[in-house]
Amino acid sequence: MSNKDTSQRKKDHIDMALKSQIERADNRFFYEPILQGTQMPPLQKSPLGKKEMRAPIWISSMTGGTGKAKHINQNLGKVCGKYGLGMGLGSCRIILENNEYLEDFQLRKHIGNEIPFYANLGIAQIEKIAKSGRWEKISELIDKTETDGLIVHINPLQEWLQPEGDTIEQAPLDTLKSLLNKLDIQLIVKEVGQGMGPKSLNELFKLPITAIDFGALGGTNFALLELMRNSPHMLENFGLIANLGHKAEEMVIFCNDILENLAETNTKTIIVSGGIKTFLDGFYFTSLIKSNAIYGQAWAMLQRANKSFEVLDQFVEYQIKGLQMASQLLSPKPLRNFDK
Ligand SMILES: Cc1cc2nc3c(=O)[nH]c(=O)nc-3n(C[C@H](O)[C@H](O)[C@H](O)COP(=O)(O)O)c2cc1C
Repeated sequence: MSNKDTSQRKKDHIDMALKSQIERADNRFFYEPILQGTQMPPLQKSPLGKKEMRAPIWISSMTGGTGKAKHINQNLGKVCGKYGLGMGLGSCRIILENNEYLEDFQLRKHIGNEIPFYANLGIAQIEKIAKSGRWEKISELIDKTETDGLIVHINPLQEWLQPEGDTIEQAPLDTLKSLLNKLDIQLIVKEVGQGMGPKSLNELFKLPITAIDFGALGGTNFALLELMRNSPHMLENFGLIANLGHKAEEMVIFCNDILENLAETNTKTIIVSGGIKTFLDGFYFTSLIKSNAIYGQAWAMLQRANKSFEVLDQFVEYQIKGLQMASQLLSPKPLRNFDK
């Protein structure tokens, strides 16, 4: 480096130091500067079901079946293929009975065969299928989307507040048990933004499912979204309902308590999701869970995929670099030490 370069760098330091004063610390981590160099280690592969991801980042279920969705889904699929991320489709209800929008959901060609990729249906839809006895609809869906299995989203609060919401007639747990009895498929169960309490999680841990996806409170909130779509009276009277549920942090504690008391070896993957904005959130929670864990993002991916592939690509590249840095220098403080 020339003297001129060095002199410019020193000038930058002085100018920018005047603007680089931090007021708020992220106190979730121990930062250990003397134990590692700055070379970036490759990320460890993350297993999910019968496949593996090359980074522990999951693109959470979102969209399909509307004008914009095809372009968004293609961007998401391509970025999964490039970086080895796993992905869940948005609700596939629209293609259960006809194939008009099937192309929106056919992303396997972008993602590649090595990476986990799952179809998605709501619990109300599974209940309807159970009643009609037409279980083959689910196998057909998995075949035509070339997915590895099914995500079932459990969203009673959303259905309750949605103007055109479905009624869920029986306990979702019973519907899930029927599904698992009838079909031998890889199954992921998730919420859509309110999370789940300890009793629900405890029941899910007992089921032979592939993964539990938090869909925790703290990010995109479908209760609020449906209230906004509903009448002003609903928003005025039920607005506070949107704040109910469990944040990722609390769900990590629930899961660890359950895992500690679980008799048999548990091979489920936990997908920490709901309000995960960056690799720091993801690294923090997945490091704390006492089980195989990855993290999922919907909103953070959607806003980039909606702009362009390049914007999304750059975001994911930096998230992976960030995870590599974090794995060298950071370890999470136990949750009880995290004062907010
Ligand atoms: C536009 C959009 C559509 C969604 N559609 C679905 C869906 O069809 N099925 C589902 O299981 N979750 C759906 N979700 C919920 C997400 O998968 C995720 O659980 C939730 O958004 C919380 O994650 P976030 O805070 O990272 O957005 C959707 C989310 C968004 C933003």
